[in-house]
Parts: sequence; C-alpha cells; structure tokens
Amino acid sequence: MKEKTNPLREGLANKAMPQPCAVVIFGATGDLTHRKLVPALYNIAADGELPPAVAVIGFARRPKTDDEFRKEMEEATRKFSRQTVRDEIWNGFAQALYYHQSEFGDEAGYKKLAERLDKLDEESGTRGNRLFYFAASPDQFETIIENLQKAGLNKAREGSWARVILEKPFGNDLASARHLNKVVQKSFAENQTYRIDHFLGKETAQNILVLRFANAIFEPLWNGDHIDHVQITAAETLGVENRAGYYEGAGALRDMVQNHMLQLLCLVAMEPPTDLGADSIRDEKVKVVRSLRRFQLDEVGGDVVRGQYAEGAIAGEPAVAYNAEKNVDPKSQTETYVALRLLIDNWRWADVPFYVRVGKRLPKSSTEISVHFKKAPQVLFNRDSQALDQNVLVIRIQPDEGISLRMQAKVPGTSFRIESVKMDFHYGTSFGQASPEAYERLLLDAMSGDATLFARRDEVEQAWAFIDTVEEAWAAKGNAPKLATYPAGSWGPETADELLARDGRTWRRL
Ligand code: BG6
Repeated sequence: MKEKTNPLREGLANKAMPQPCAVVIFGATGDLTHRKLVPALYNIAADGELPPAVAVIGFARRPKTDDEFRKEMEEATRKFSRQTVRDEIWNGFAQALYYHQSEFGDEAGYKKLAERLDKLDEESGTRGNRLFYFAASPDQFETIIENLQKAGLNKAREGSWARVILEKPFGNDLASARHLNKVVQKSFAENQTYRIDHFLGKETAQNILVLRFANAIFEPLWNGDHIDHVQITAAETLGVENRAGYYEGAGALRDMVQNHMLQLLCLVAMEPPTDLGADSIRDEKVKVVRSLRRFQLDEVGGDVVRGQYAEGAIAGEPAVAYNAEKNVDPKSQTETYVALRLLIDNWRWADVPFYVRVGKRLPKSSTEISVHFKKAPQVLFNRDSQALDQNVLVIRIQPDEGISLRMQAKVPGTSFRIESVKMDFHYGTSFGQASPEAYERLLLDAMSGDATLFARRDEVEQAWAFIDTVEEAWAAKGNAPKLATYPAGSWGPETADELLARDGRTWRRL
C-alpha cells in the first residue's frame, strides 16, 4: 500500500503526519505562550494543517476559567499572529483551548490533569497522545517532570505517545544541563524528548543544508582551500526588555551562542549526512561542536570580546544603558554583546576562522551568515591595482530572507574598471508566500514525531562543554577580558573590530 503522506511532509525523511493530540502548555500565562505558542497553533489551524483533533490545555498557577483563558489568548493572537485573525477560524480554534489551574508542585493538580486528558480523549478524539510543552521557568522543569511521572503521564497507553518539548535555557552550564538530562531521562526516553532551538525552525536555517547539498557548485568549494573565513551575526535592536530576571544570570554567550549560534555554525560546517534522518543529521552536527578548538584560560581574553550597552539612541529614540534597565544591577557585569573567533579542528576547516557576534541594542535587527571566499590571485585585472574584493556568499536568516553572492563585474565603458555586484535571491519574490514561523514548523514536527530540528542530548552537552571554557576563563581572575561598553545604537565595542583587524579582516557591514 502506498504510504499515506501529505504535501506538508514532502521530502522529509520522517513522513508521519502530525497526529491528534492534547498539547499541555506549562507556563500558560507567560510571554512565550502569548507571543509565540498560541499564535503559532492558530496559524497552523488557519493554514488547515492542524490534525483533526487537537486540544490545547494551558497549565498555570493563576486561577482562571476556560473562557477567560480563551479571551486572553484571543487578544494575544490578534496582536502577535503572523496572519490576520479570521473570526470564523478563531471561533472554532478557541473551542479547543482549555485552562487547568494548578501549582507546578501540586501532585493532586497532575492527577486532575490526567483525568481531564482522559476525558478529552473521549470527547475530542485526542487518542491518548500528549505533548507536554515546558514554557515555564526552567527552575520548575524538575518539579514538573517528577509530577508528570507520579501521575503516570510520562507513559502513554498502547498505540499512543507522550512527548516533552523543553524550552531553552536547557541548563546554565554543562553540570546543570547534564543534571537536567538525567532528570528528564528518568521519566522520558530520548525519543520522547524534544529540546527546542527555535532557530532550527527558521526556514532559512533549514535552507542551509539545501544550499549546500542540493547544488553541485558549492560543496566542492566549501572548505579551507577556497574559503577564507566565515562570519555569523545575530544583531538585535531590542534591549533586555522585561527579561532581566533571566538575562542577568545568562548574558549573551549563554542566551544566544550556546544554542542558536552554534546550531547555525554546525549547519554551515558539518559534513554531508548519510541520509536525512534525525540522527544522521545530528550525528554530523555534534562532530562539529566536538571539533571546536577549546580555549586555554589565557587565550580567551584575545579571542573573545564581551560588551554591554551604554546609553545611546536607536533610530533616533533615546535608549537607556543596560545597567539602568528595570531589575538590572547597576553594577552588572553581564554581557549584552559577545564576539568570538572560533576554529574548527578538522581537515575541512583547518585554519579557517569562524567569527561569531551577537548583540542587543545594535543599530539594526539582522541575522546572517557570510562565507568569504579567498581572493583571486593578483594577476591580470588586479596585478597593478588594489586587490579585488572577495566573493562573498551571504545567507540572510532574517529579515529579508534570502541568499546573495557578491562577485566582480566590469563597469560598462571603454576602461576596464571592476566593481563588486550582487546576485540576489529573495524568498518573498521567488516563492511569493510567507514562510511559517519557526514555532509552527517545530510544533508540527513534534506532533509528527520528527526530532530532526530539535537538539539531541549530546549536542546540548557538547555545546555547554565548549561554552563553559569561556565562562570559566571569564570567572577566573586575571583572564577575564574587560567588559567593554558600547553606546546603544552602535555596532558594538571597538575591541570587536580589533578582533578581526588583527587578522587583517573586517566585519561585514549589515
Ligand atoms: C531567544 C533569546 O532565544 O532568541 C532572545 O533568548 C533573543 O534574547 C531571541 O532576542 C532572538 O530570536 P529571534 O527569532 O527573534 O531572532
């Protein structure tokens, strides 16, 4: 019999379709649920891609009725949804939203949840499948896991499944990540565990593998013989917003580099997987992280730059300094900017630096990867004049998703003047349709049992093992690079420019 599939899963190794299920969101009154999760579920419904029976149960401490929860989610969805909310779709979708009030540590609350889920199976056809989404504060994860187990919710009945999606931060260092992994694995097997990194759900991040392995022209050049260096940038105009409670203890390195940036780096640097299966891809990614050259304590000062935004202006609007933001210690040493020079010790990438920078309160919000090819030899056109520009392949992750290639062209006329021009592909114009939000894709994948775009246990631990070397050096007296400041609205501390200048290079202007 022909395998039952739908266009949504075309080309994927895992062809299973998203299945009816109950989605239980822990931390249902929080920011993530409002801004991302419920709007994503609504958009999946509006695109007709939600499985026929889905119930969404918000689990949180504050007392609230189902109707109050629906109302609150409607407001949030109208504000944050990718597509304009259509009443007829919302009304149907809202009927599948429920609220379950309980303390995270209250055993009885989980018992009642189990009874409610059983009832929903009968009434709504959710078939005993449960997706537990951990959007609560990470210090609650252990308590929630233990209580799910006590209520028997970690085990699905025959023919059904139970899965957990764990939001970041997944630990704060290697020791805490290992501990959390152990706690999770006492109750849920690895194939039930989905550690989310929403960058992997971004359309453009997924396209990196297509660019590299579905085109014949790039892969032969994708190595240190032809590539001079790679830059990965995630710039944000936003400051810390209302997240100081978390951010003060994290900083840019833990918040963005340990997860999102290393994931992008892996996609650029990995070897071709043997197939498109979740483990084949993740096997290759983890090898990249393991090959990252570990910093010696005294090297960190030279290869890593840390900064914090000072008072300044973004698009003409005054912006306060980080240490004057709400709930931030005025003497805070937390970095809001970090730039690193990384080396990958394998044959493909020997001596090719990967420069990574992330920062808040920069002049522009833009995430991109640029691959800088080696210069053409100084013969013919550039024999006597200045060296020609390099070819640069730019993968724009967001916004204006697309790919461009900078190359040299002759300026029309009688002379032989050469200038750089750009070949440019824009998702918007080529495909004429908006990409789904990362959370839409990832929720559907979890409902389908496809973990390809989620981080595996060893990936997370290896990433922390690497990040720990930097954090330890920062913590060790004498080795910590000074925390430089940069005015909000600038491109980061001057020392970040010096990091590249030392190698005779400059950051790409975004
Ligand atoms: C989150 C970080 O994981 O990613 C935030 O905690 C950051 O600090 C955000 O702002 C960036 O994600 P996106 O999708 O807006 O680029």
